Amino acid sequence: MDMAQRETWTSRVGFIFAAVGSAVGLGNIWSFPFQTASNGGAAFLVVYLLAVFLIGFPTMLIEFVIGRRSKQNAVSAFSELGYGNWTFAGVIGVFASFITLSFYSVVGGWVLNYIVGSVTGGYLGDASTFFGSVSSGTVAVAAHAVFMAITIAIVAGGVADGIERATKFMIPAILVLLAGLAVWGSTLSGASAGYAYYLSPDFGVIATNFTSIVPSAMGQAFFTLSLGFGVMVAYASYLGRDDSLPGDSAIIVVLNTIVALLAGFAVFPILAATDALTGSTGAGTAFVALAGAFGQLPAGRIIGFVFFVVLLFAALSSSISLLEAPASYVVDSYDTERWKVAVGVGVVAFLLGIVPAYGYVGLFNDFVFNILLPIAVLFIALFAGWIYGGEAVDELGRGTSLGRGAMTAWLWWVRVVVPIVVAYTLWLGVTNFYA
Ligand code: PHE
Ligand code: NA
Repeated sequence: MDMAQRETWTSRVGFIFAAVGSAVGLGNIWSFPFQTASNGGAAFLVVYLLAVFLIGFPTMLIEFVIGRRSKQNAVSAFSELGYGNWTFAGVIGVFASFITLSFYSVVGGWVLNYIVGSVTGGYLGDASTFFGSVSSGTVAVAAHAVFMAITIAIVAGGVADGIERATKFMIPAILVLLAGLAVWGSTLSGASAGYAYYLSPDFGVIATNFTSIVPSAMGQAFFTLSLGFGVMVAYASYLGRDDSLPGDSAIIVVLNTIVALLAGFAVFPILAATDALTGSTGAGTAFVALAGAFGQLPAGRIIGFVFFVVLLFAALSSSISLLEAPASYVVDSYDTERWKVAVGVGVVAFLLGIVPAYGYVGLFNDFVFNILLPIAVLFIALFAGWIYGGEAVDELGRGTSLGRGAMTAWLWWVRVVVPIVVAYTLWLGVTNFYA
């Protein structure tokens, strides 16, 4: 791409929709309930919300500032702004995107199987048997191939327009469907036990499980906000100068949080009603709970079909940004044709994804959450705070009515608090991962 004539988003709303499209995805509806369920419920929720607002929100501002200032993909951005010494910070993000794409596409394949299951009625009988039959093995690999092929086709063809339009309908549809399921869930017999587990924190649980809750919550916060991948850097590189970055970030963070919280309101009463709350929670939690619910609802197959199609859109608007990050880097640095790069990177990610498709989604997920994302965010924060410092504040100040004091507070937060908290998280995460 010719850097001299980079396009910008047609409108502020266009940028926000694209960023929300990347943020809102399987992380909100699949990963969030599953992480919450397996990490003690409300205890996890408290730490997760703190992570989102105290660490995620300021980190999103960093990625936006770097992207808008450099007008480049993450690798070139860190390379240029860091005088060649910080290229690795962008490379880690691109690598995280690539690894994540490999297992995200496997879970995307599960969604495809649930769309088929809505048509055939496959999950109406025993929801957990159905999950077992589609979530690993050849069926999972085949669906993973289809999901990856769709992702490649969109990125290769550059039909991002279609995605922008799809997002405009996807977000309201997700909100309405999840809200409907949440209301229905509230009528179930176990609902109050579900809410209790989800919403009333046992601070003793936080204390006892601190060392496992913190890295999971922090990893979930970065993952769900698409931070540490270089994706938000790239998206902000197309931004015009006069947007308010804090305003845009606030909208993205709040919308993303609402979708996740609603997914919890839908999933937890169902888990409680089916006595699955404290049972073995794993990567299948949300799929089994939701499909089980559709099995009991009048017209459940139709609702299920609509739900999983909308979830597919949410997953695709995230997966294209996951493929776009490594692909745009290769296109920019090696001057290869875009479609060839999309196919090449996508096929390699597909091959790597065969491993999680045989039952190792959780392992890949843990590696990204506990190790890759904290490493990426740690370096991003150190760079923005200590190397880029004053210029970062300058860029943040454009188009916002934030006072000087608030911006200086952000800088010191990014310099000191974010690196210390994330370094601690990383240390815990590494210890857990290799334990
Ligand atoms: N934020 C996405 C989700 O919650 C995952 C994602 C991460 C997408 C990074 C793109 C880049 O599902
Ligand atoms: Na998300």
